[in-house]
Amino acid sequence: MARDNWSGRFGFVLAAAGSAIGLGNLWKFPYITWNNNGGAFVLVYLLCILVVGLPLMCSEILIGRRSQSSVASAFGRLGHPKWDFVGFIGVAAGFVILGFYAVIAGWSLASFAECLGWSVQGYEAPSDEAFGTFLADPLKQIGLGFVFMVATSLIVWRGVSGGIERAAKILMPTLMVILVYILIVTCTLSGAGEALTFLFKPDFSKLDSHGVLEALGHAFFTLSLGMGAMITYGSYMKKSERVVPISITVVILDTIIALVACMIMYSIIFTVDGLRDEVGKSTVGMLFVTLPKLFYTEMTGSGGAFVGPLFYILVAFAALSSTISLLEVIVSLFVDRYGWNRTKATVTAATSVFGLSVLSALSLGANGFLSSVKLFGSSETGVLHSLNKLVTKDKGGVLNILDHISANWLLPIGGLAITIYVGWVLPTKDSKEELFGEGEGSSLFYKVWLFFVRFVVPAAIGWVIVDVVLGGDFS
Ligand code: PHE
Repeated sequence: MARDNWSGRFGFVLAAAGSAIGLGNLWKFPYITWNNNGGAFVLVYLLCILVVGLPLMCSEILIGRRSQSSVASAFGRLGHPKWDFVGFIGVAAGFVILGFYAVIAGWSLASFAECLGWSVQGYEAPSDEAFGTFLADPLKQIGLGFVFMVATSLIVWRGVSGGIERAAKILMPTLMVILVYILIVTCTLSGAGEALTFLFKPDFSKLDSHGVLEALGHAFFTLSLGMGAMITYGSYMKKSERVVPISITVVILDTIIALVACMIMYSIIFTVDGLRDEVGKSTVGMLFVTLPKLFYTEMTGSGGAFVGPLFYILVAFAALSSTISLLEVIVSLFVDRYGWNRTKATVTAATSVFGLSVLSALSLGANGFLSSVKLFGSSETGVLHSLNKLVTKDKGGVLNILDHISANWLLPIGGLAITIYVGWVLPTKDSKEELFGEGEGSSLFYKVWLFFVRFVVPAAIGWVIVDVVLGGDFS
């Protein structure tokens, strides 16, 4: 069967941007930036994007396009079957990420319903406990996650290119327009100046070494790197497209959306009385607790009642275009490597991921054990305690642990393997041809890229990991 292709550059950019732009930008980046005190963290994050993210984005896409294969068998097809272990790391990461991502994606459906209710019946300020109660509701958490997994599976089952591309072409531009509109409205709020300062004025005494690892980990997470999602998407790219400009576009779009999301949320937080303390109690709920207020209190004259529900539908779609790429990585392992048919592969992958989602869903308060369990047990002293601190920053609860391990360990380690492969194992003739076409004049750019992929990226990832393992502190 002929391999599917994106219809063209625009289609690929939007599908890849669809994978990259998701809860990482709208939900996670604003709250981890808040927890890490803004400025310095943002600067380190931007550096990670530029120094590590961009060279790796080019690397993953080039592996995919050259091998014409998903991550599960890309390395083997390129003549290095020993490297196929990277595909397995990718599948493990996909499994772990989807296991919690689907649950949080479900929250956007709940926020949609809530906003719709307010739009129709009038706004009624929710009680302080409302979000906590919602989190601890097992049926809602499992049910919403289930709806999300079903939607994801249906699209993946039908095959990616036609469905995803068509959806991405409508959804991504709409999301951007709505975001810009909300941004313009929030920029007029009195807290906008303070938000800008918080975001862009670095104070390195407020950043520690875990913060640096978190910035690096988030760079991977938000760009969907380190697990082969971009290898898989790159494999559907036509030979006539140019990898470098496309990678740059995806990286820039992703970064802009993340910063815009912060500007929007922080402007509201710094404007509305008392919100700062409330956010401090549960930063995780920022997108779902802070933002709805804006639509009904600050945007009453500018279409808030209309934009509110629409916005959460778009959050859901942004999440959906990411979950599709996550599930596709797992499904393509079964299809490409073991020759399963797509139906069997999709059903198996989706059901097993959903099993993990149920544990995540119950770990938000519904079940005491799952909500507080630690990876290496609960001892307060000794080796296991140290391991908890090292590996999960002593976090408790299934969802938190899955989130932490994927972004801080699996993706950076996968990324390290990919960069070493492209830099040192794949013949330079191949990578050059794939990036710039044969005999084209961009050799200086190629040399710079190769230098980054060979030395800078592995050194940066290695340094951060080693430093955190040794317990370093930058502050
Ligand atoms: N990049 C997605 C986001 O920011 C998450 C994701 C990670 C998707 C890894 C695919 C692979 O939400």
